[in-house]
Amino acid sequence: MSTIQNYIEENKDRFLEELISLLKIPSVSADKAYKSAVLNTADFVLESLKKAGCDLVEMCETPGYPIIYGEKIIDKNLPTVLVYGHYDVQPADPIELWTSPPFEPVIKKTEIHPEGAIFARGACDDKGQMYMHVKALEYMTSTGNLPCNVKFMIEGEEEVGSESLSWFVPRNIEKLANDVILISDTGMIANDIPSITTGLRGLSYVEVEVTGPNRDLHSGLYGGAVANPINILTKMIASLHDENNHITIPGFYDNVEELSAAERAEMAKAPFSLTAYEKSIAIGAVYGEKGYSTNERNAIRPTLDVNGIWGGYTGEGAKTVIASKAFAKISMRLVPNQDWRAITTLFKNHFESIAPAAVKVLVKPHHGGQGYVTPTDNIAYQAASKAYETSFGKTPIPQRSGGSIPIVALFEQHLKSKTILMGFGLDSDAIHSPDEHFGIWNYLKGIETIPYFYKYFTDLSKTE
Ligand code: BES
Ligand code: MN
Ligand code: MN
Repeated sequence: MSTIQNYIEENKDRFLEELISLLKIPSVSADKAYKSAVLNTADFVLESLKKAGCDLVEMCETPGYPIIYGEKIIDKNLPTVLVYGHYDVQPADPIELWTSPPFEPVIKKTEIHPEGAIFARGACDDKGQMYMHVKALEYMTSTGNLPCNVKFMIEGEEEVGSESLSWFVPRNIEKLANDVILISDTGMIANDIPSITTGLRGLSYVEVEVTGPNRDLHSGLYGGAVANPINILTKMIASLHDENNHITIPGFYDNVEELSAAERAEMAKAPFSLTAYEKSIAIGAVYGEKGYSTNERNAIRPTLDVNGIWGGYTGEGAKTVIASKAFAKISMRLVPNQDWRAITTLFKNHFESIAPAAVKVLVKPHHGGQGYVTPTDNIAYQAASKAYETSFGKTPIPQRSGGSIPIVALFEQHLKSKTILMGFGLDSDAIHSPDEHFGIWNYLKGIETIPYFYKYFTDLSKTE
């Protein structure tokens, strides 16, 4: 029987070529101009699951982009692993900042990835990480090493809020029945410090519009006498944090889970270099909520950030104008127990209440979702931990992440199963940014680690 290491050694060039083909298709879900590419990517994923040994594959139509479903059921009495991933990617903008075109994948060596990394939009988030599961399945089915049942559910709208999947899951509870959900769409601390993601933050995303006069005005003729919506908007936004960087929206922290001193001490044990962190993104100093460490600020504490702000004249040269309108897109990262719909309402009420009578304010909610915490005292976590021990030779560190995969909380609500987050990307892989990449070593290490998870999870299920 071929071992996974041998199988990877014999097939790694093909594994890379296939991923490169997948990365060439620009499946940007946010932009309708890419619709046919998104659909072609769905076809690619469906075909790849068929070739990897699924007995049944389906292109499941939804109100939006299709969900790819695949399964291989070997014995109803054995446990079932449900793999989730996404085939859509973020827009490549700002495209001029890429050192090579985002949909023409190239392999380049970096300081962190001396063996080379694939540079392309979606390389790490999530095509590369999703495809590791397809190749792990191929190994297990073709060599007789699949120890349990497996189902795949790969969506094409994760980067825009998973609306169609939220529609699909409650309608397909039987079909999606499983014992554990397995996702690789997060990261780990470093290639020599494996970690398992044990938490995701929730999200509330809103857009605000401030309207002053009914038309743009001459800033000399009217300046000083009417409210400037941009001045007002920036003042309102600035007031959302106090001098300690606490968020000022009344009730915002009401349900925030407070970690015990012991839990915080445990968190502080994770290896972290503040100097390296500052250096990696070229900042003079970190900044954030008083009383919390950097790791706490971006994992266990909620945030409020402006993602974009616009209005008035931004073209070349100078134009003297008081704009009629000003806009901003604002996201709030939430922690367990904060309800995203309730937070959206708190934001809306507060933002409307602080607007001076001189302007009108409109708050438009976009998408959102709940945070998630993975238990570490169950067999899924133990199986994942043993899998990393086998392939990395080290026990992984549990670590909460600041990112969001809102659909995970919905999986638990409808399917009643826990999710295990085995991410193999690094923070430096520049997901959502120009020059996104994924280390070849990480890609192959993921393919190596995944089959061990299946094995240990099946073994541990028998002794339960
Ligand atoms: N894969 C990311 C989330 C992620 C990345 C979690 C790294 C933890 C570590 C996912 O594709 C993503 O980008 N999620 C969005 C939210 C979504 C609703 C658009 C996010 O976190 O901004
Ligand atoms: Mn992702
Ligand atoms: Mn993403």
